[in-house]
Amino acid sequence: MAKTCFHGVFVSIAVTSLLLLQAEAPSPPPPAVYIFGDSTLDVGTNNFIPECAARADFYFNGIDFPYLKPTGRFSNGLNTADQIVRLLGLKKSPPPFLYLVNDPSNFQKNILQGANFASGGSGILRDTGKAKRVIPLEEQIQQFSTIRSNITNMTGSEEATDKILSKAFILISIGSNDMFEYLLDLSKPMSLAEFNATLISTYEYHIKTLYELGARTFGILTVPPIGCTPFARAVFTGNNSCSEPAQAMAVQFYFDVASSLEQFSSTVQDMKYSVGNTFLMTSVLTGDKLAFGLKNIAAACCGNGTYGCNQTASFCSNRDEYLFWDQFHPTQRASELVALTLFGAAEPIMVPMNFSQLLGVNI
Ligand SMILES: *[C@@H]1O[C@H](CO)[C@@H](O)[C@H](O)[C@H]1NC(C)=O
Ligand SMILES: *[C@@H]1O[C@H](CO)[C@@H](O)[C@H](O)[C@H]1NC(C)=O
Ligand SMILES: *[C@@H]1O[C@H](CO)[C@@H](O)[C@H](O)[C@H]1NC(C)=O
Ligand SMILES: *[C@@H]1O[C@H](CO)[C@@H](O)[C@H](O)[C@H]1NC(C)=O
Ligand SMILES: *[C@@H]1O[C@H](CO)[C@@H](O)[C@H](O)[C@H]1NC(C)=O
Ligand SMILES: *[C@@H]1O[C@H](CO)[C@@H](O)[C@H](O)[C@H]1NC(C)=O
Repeated sequence: MAKTCFHGVFVSIAVTSLLLLQAEAPSPPPPAVYIFGDSTLDVGTNNFIPECAARADFYFNGIDFPYLKPTGRFSNGLNTADQIVRLLGLKKSPPPFLYLVNDPSNFQKNILQGANFASGGSGILRDTGKAKRVIPLEEQIQQFSTIRSNITNMTGSEEATDKILSKAFILISIGSNDMFEYLLDLSKPMSLAEFNATLISTYEYHIKTLYELGARTFGILTVPPIGCTPFARAVFTGNNSCSEPAQAMAVQFYFDVASSLEQFSSTVQDMKYSVGNTFLMTSVLTGDKLAFGLKNIAAACCGNGTYGCNQTASFCSNRDEYLFWDQFHPTQRASELVALTLFGAAEPIMVPMNFSQLLGVNI
């Protein structure tokens, strides 16, 4: 942590000056966006899964969403997927794939603009979230493969589909749930070293599969400081301190993902990517209360560390001052700060480039 704090000072200045800029209208038409991952990006996928136990389609989720609507987002309002696509100039966040398949008359038109496969509670490993009946990354990618075949059905050729997908933005945020489940599993079927290695090699395999399906432009968010979530403070340490083992896994994951992508991208011609060091970014955003206004970085706004947010929980009124909406998830404001950082920060937060450079947009 000491080392990341040192970097933080420089980065803080860069991010602060960025936030002073007003968002302008973006230049080129926004690309199609295909979104994969967990609850950080889920915009309602899990609402469509019968018996899914990782849901947020009830109050007080969505209390700051237009029409005060609980949409399945694990947030008081817009989540990180929404905030990112807003900066891209999209008028609406790509809907869940499972919503699109239920709207057959618009399906073909819709999938050309994007789709969201992210499923709260899911992970890189197939079994993560299994008990809650979520959609693991592997299955999310199978759904993307279906979309690819549907596009080919429209274009009539694989080459035409390749061309369309090569311009699409592939956004992924996943890994936290794998770590939580590993830490909570007292039987520890794998050593920590084995677990790390399995996690990263599985992630690498999934990214390669996406590449083989035509994905070329990747934006990847690593694991934030999960050891400092209200959940970890209440359940892992029980004394409101951050959980060091959880923090260490999240820190390590960024380095493993960054080196894996650097390696894989060097073996292919035409892949572009940007990795956001979500751990470091969050440390910067929470380290400067004056600049970013996140005054409460330890407590959940709705519910607490042991109890999730629901309609009988109490919730805070100054939500823009909280990092956490509930046990695990950022507030709408924290997600907005993260999105602005993804588009505007430099190394070592965004490697090897930021989302603005990756996608050729000015925010
Ligand atoms: C191809 O598209 C038509 C409608 O345009 C649809 O009826 C058919 O099921 C599609 N086939 C595949 C394999 O996607
Ligand atoms: C999309 O592709 C899948 C798999 O090929 C097929 O079952 C489905 O009918 C297709 N949907 C449309 C609307 O073309
Ligand atoms: C909190 O608990 C953790 C382990 O559960 C321990 O390592 C740490 O020293 C404790 N911190 C404080 C401030 O009591
Ligand atoms: C696995 O993660 C732990 C926790 O961050 C780290 O200390 C260790 O070096 C990692 N091991 C391997 C083999 O990557
Ligand atoms: C969370 O809230 C519940 C019920 O309101 C309470 O029993 C519990 O002690 C609280 N836990 C913490 C860590 O504050
Ligand atoms: C809702 O939250 C409250 C307070 O945090 C908790 O006591 C209660 O068990 C929760 N209810 C359900 C159905 O989860």
